[in-house]
Amino acid sequence: MIRKLLPFAKKYWVYAVLAPLCIICEVILEVNIPRIMANIVDIGIENRDLNYITRMGILMILMAVLSLFFGAIAAHFASIASTGYAKEIRRELFYKIQDFSFANMDRFTTASLITRLTTDVTHAQMTFMMMIRMMIRTPMMLVMATVMAVTLNARLSAIFLAAIPILGLSLFIISKSAYPRFRTMLKKYDRLNAVIQENLIGIRVVKAFVRGDFEYEKFDDIADQVRETQIKAERIVLWNMPIMQFVMYGCMLAVAWFGGNLIIAGDMQSGQLMGFISYISQILISLMMIGMIFVMFVLSRASLTRISEVLEEKIDIEEKENKVTEIKDGSVTFNNVSFSYAGEKGNMVLENINLSIKSGETIGIIGGTGSGKTTLVQLIPRLYDVTGGSVTVGGVDVRNYGLSELRDAVAMVLQKNVLFSGTIRDNLRWGNENATDEEIIEACKIAQAHDFIMSFPDGYNTVLEQGGVNVSGGQRQRLCIARALLKKPKIIILDDSTSAVDTATDSKIRAALRSEDLFSRIYKNHSPEIITTIIIAQRVASVIDADRIIVMDDGRIDAIGTHEELLKNNTIYREVYESQQKGIVEHAGA
Ligand SMILES: Nc1ncnc2c1ncn2[C@@H]1O[C@H](COP(=O)(O)OP(=O)(O)OP(=O)(O)O)[C@@H](O)[C@H]1O
Ligand SMILES: [Mg+2]
Repeated sequence: MIRKLLPFAKKYWVYAVLAPLCIICEVILEVNIPRIMANIVDIGIENRDLNYITRMGILMILMAVLSLFFGAIAAHFASIASTGYAKEIRRELFYKIQDFSFANMDRFTTASLITRLTTDVTHAQMTFMMMIRMMIRTPMMLVMATVMAVTLNARLSAIFLAAIPILGLSLFIISKSAYPRFRTMLKKYDRLNAVIQENLIGIRVVKAFVRGDFEYEKFDDIADQVRETQIKAERIVLWNMPIMQFVMYGCMLAVAWFGGNLIIAGDMQSGQLMGFISYISQILISLMMIGMIFVMFVLSRASLTRISEVLEEKIDIEEKENKVTEIKDGSVTFNNVSFSYAGEKGNMVLENINLSIKSGETIGIIGGTGSGKTTLVQLIPRLYDVTGGSVTVGGVDVRNYGLSELRDAVAMVLQKNVLFSGTIRDNLRWGNENATDEEIIEACKIAQAHDFIMSFPDGYNTVLEQGGVNVSGGQRQRLCIARALLKKPKIIILDDSTSAVDTATDSKIRAALRSEDLFSRIYKNHSPEIITTIIIAQRVASVIDADRIIVMDDGRIDAIGTHEELLKNNTIYREVYESQQKGIVEHAGA
């Protein structure tokens, strides 16, 4: 897994190599200092040779300064390499997520993707930094200091050589048991992010429903869980340091005891013991570092796994190799289509759908909530793939088209729509970045948005806040329709897109969509037979003048026909119509 994520450092390999090289110089200098110290004591002081002491002293200072210098630039290079590494991973993740289908998104959830892009990548970055700074430094320091200590006095060295296996074993046990706990902790982080995100996105609803207390509770609950899982993981890891220190200070004591005896017996000089103790502390520090690196690795293993899960996720909506790029016309057929959000094993949301829509037709879809209207039309621009059967557009299976060509030809105004921060003009250009100002105005006129846009002091340059919160719901819907029209699609799907628009404006939009004018103004050389309009609505009034109306019920097509036919033959339709009429009559009578 680490091997798979390592290539992201490629761009920064110079720094990733320079850093350890500097570190090697640093370590070589550092391990020689105690030896010089020992010589100053044993040779310089013993012989009262001031000249020797001065020369060695200057050498020692020089070495210390140089080693500091190398250490500092190594750290600098390491941070360049590791921040670059993190940037590359983030970029790769972000790009990958852009290719995710709706189903891929459903599987990961937005909140978890955010944690993966932020917290998990930060863990990877820290590990990478540690790796280039410590992976070489620590073992090298350990080996060199050990060699130095052994050459100084082999018998004394036996003491801590015995301690190393004990430490190794405890590290192994700790990391083994901490890993699953860190994974649980990160899952809780996902949940925490989800709670915060949901709250922030829905903050208006929360306030309107005075659900603040409930939200506090929800937050406190998950925040506590994060804390608890973190404690659980840390509780194991925290044994690391005390065990290290206990073992190593034990060694120190033993060295001081046995070393002291050796000096008294005349088998060792006091300078040697001083140097020896310095080496022991270098070894001690290295071992502690190894402990820290271990903890880091355990934590980041969980994060790295989560990163690779995203990178390795199979995008379930993919283009074929010899894709069709030309969409002939706006005809749509559904051939025995069934669909389930959870794949073949899930429960079917759509079953046995057979439907044929001619190019240029206006189709209305009506049906209770949850009856599968949105699900049905989402299959046309391939936001999801059918579970069984097939959907064709212009006579070709949608799976054979290039995705961008298909989605350019099928403009869907989603039920849950968003605008982005930026000016109104920028937002509209989302539909078609090459749209001229005239085209933008024409599209807005058809969507009945032009008048209200012009009523803003800044007109088309009015800046929208994130999510388009500073326009009304109905205004937002009309902007979304205009944005879709600018794509000059062959099929336009309006999923409940005028629910917040008053009835009069709604009917004006529909009239504009059907007018010959639209084609001469926006579509210039297209003929009117091409554009197919599919309108999903709750109000019968919105679909009443459609060529055909589809009545959906519980994932099936209950009936298809014109308004008159359905009124005569279909109970569901008649009931809906009558209840809505009754409302109007009562309203008028009141
Ligand atoms: N992303 C999803 N994952 C799993 N199930 C889903 C998803 N979206 C919708 N469903 C389920 O599919 C069924 C049909 O939903 P759909 O959105 O198509 O209904 P709809 O007719 O558009 O309703 P509405 O009029 O309320 O928009 C519902 O039972 C819903 O719970
Ligand atoms: Mg819907």
